Amino acid sequence: MDKCTLVTGGTGYIGSHTTVALLEAGYQVIIVDNLVNSSDKVLSRIEKITGLAPIFVRADLRDTSTITKVFKEYPITSVVHFAGLKAVKESVEEPTKYYDNNLGSALSLVKAMETSGVSTLVFSSSATVYSPFEDSPVDEGATLGPTNPYGMTKYFIERMLTDVALGDKDWSIGLLRYFNPIGAHSTGLIGEMPRGTPNNLVPYVMQVAIEKLEKLYIFGDDYETPDGTCIRDYVHVVDLARGHLAALRFLEKTKGSHIWNLGTGKGTSVLELIQTVEEVIGKSIPKEVVGRRSGDVPIVYADAEKASEELSWRAENTILKMCADHWNWQKQNPDGYQ
Ligand SMILES: NC(=O)c1ccc[n+]([C@@H]2O[C@H](COP(=O)([O-])OP(=O)(O)OC[C@H]3O[C@@H](n4cnc5c(N)ncnc54)[C@H](O)[C@@H]3O)[C@@H](O)[C@H]2O)c1
Repeated sequence: MDKCTLVTGGTGYIGSHTTVALLEAGYQVIIVDNLVNSSDKVLSRIEKITGLAPIFVRADLRDTSTITKVFKEYPITSVVHFAGLKAVKESVEEPTKYYDNNLGSALSLVKAMETSGVSTLVFSSSATVYSPFEDSPVDEGATLGPTNPYGMTKYFIERMLTDVALGDKDWSIGLLRYFNPIGAHSTGLIGEMPRGTPNNLVPYVMQVAIEKLEKLYIFGDDYETPDGTCIRDYVHVVDLARGHLAALRFLEKTKGSHIWNLGTGKGTSVLELIQTVEEVIGKSIPKEVVGRRSGDVPIVYADAEKASEELSWRAENTILKMCADHWNWQKQNPDGYQ
């Protein structure tokens, strides 16, 4: 193994799947995570899948001196930065927690990278940086305008990283704007572990399916869409993981800052998604249509052509496969990693 990557937030949902992809591609992986939203049990699962063990350091990214020591100790040549808090609703209720954790972590990491002379970085951004008034498909040049503190943290970190790359031409930075990651590794060994009641549709539907939650609430069926429910771009987490690998390979050869949408380029409505889950689990899910949720826009899906042209990356998995893999993980691990 001649390439060594630091994966921050690597015990989390997308980080663990990307760690698998990196290990399988021959990278040595050092994970730094404070386990605020993950479990160290994921490490043995990663080893079970790949036959390889990532090195794990339990630390908070905001602790710059510890992070700098990690760079001294291991021959790290690149970083994939996932660590962050991600619950939109919580970010509205506790904005300072989000600005402190997400901005503080990114700034601390960049400082440690500067001190250590490492200048290749892939950052987990989000489609939430786009203005909700943009028409779909949304491309990378669309107007930005996050509407909540979580999205703002992604926007500010993107700005900071763009300035870092402008100020020092040695940097290679990839800003990956994900649409709606769902699914799990096909073994069912790793997947998403929502704490408490899930905020996102698919984890919520899955918990209704295993009868942990009583019923699914559909927020509005009177939107201007073919079946009246909101349309989103769901992308398999394993496809996303491959996207990080593709971005890293590009950045190993190309300087500057680059932005790529990672989505399928296809929209799926809430009702279509529920029908697919029902098909996978073989039964109907209790559900009720309630009023619209404030802030929801009818249609959001990606223009993913830039990633296809520049990274030769395309999402490959269908919505049926995404739901089947998510269900496989959920039924094998009804309580996550507990
Ligand atoms: N899942 C999504 O829907 C989605 C969509 C777009 C963008 N993203 C972004 O992708 C990244 C990964 O998302 P995920 O779904 O895997 O989330 P996750 O919560 O499963 O993983 C994030 C990891 O970061 C760790 N972490 C948080 N703050 C930390 C800190 N200060 N120091 C060290 N570790 C810390 C958590 O313990 C967790 O393991 C996040 O930055 C998220 O904002 C996620």
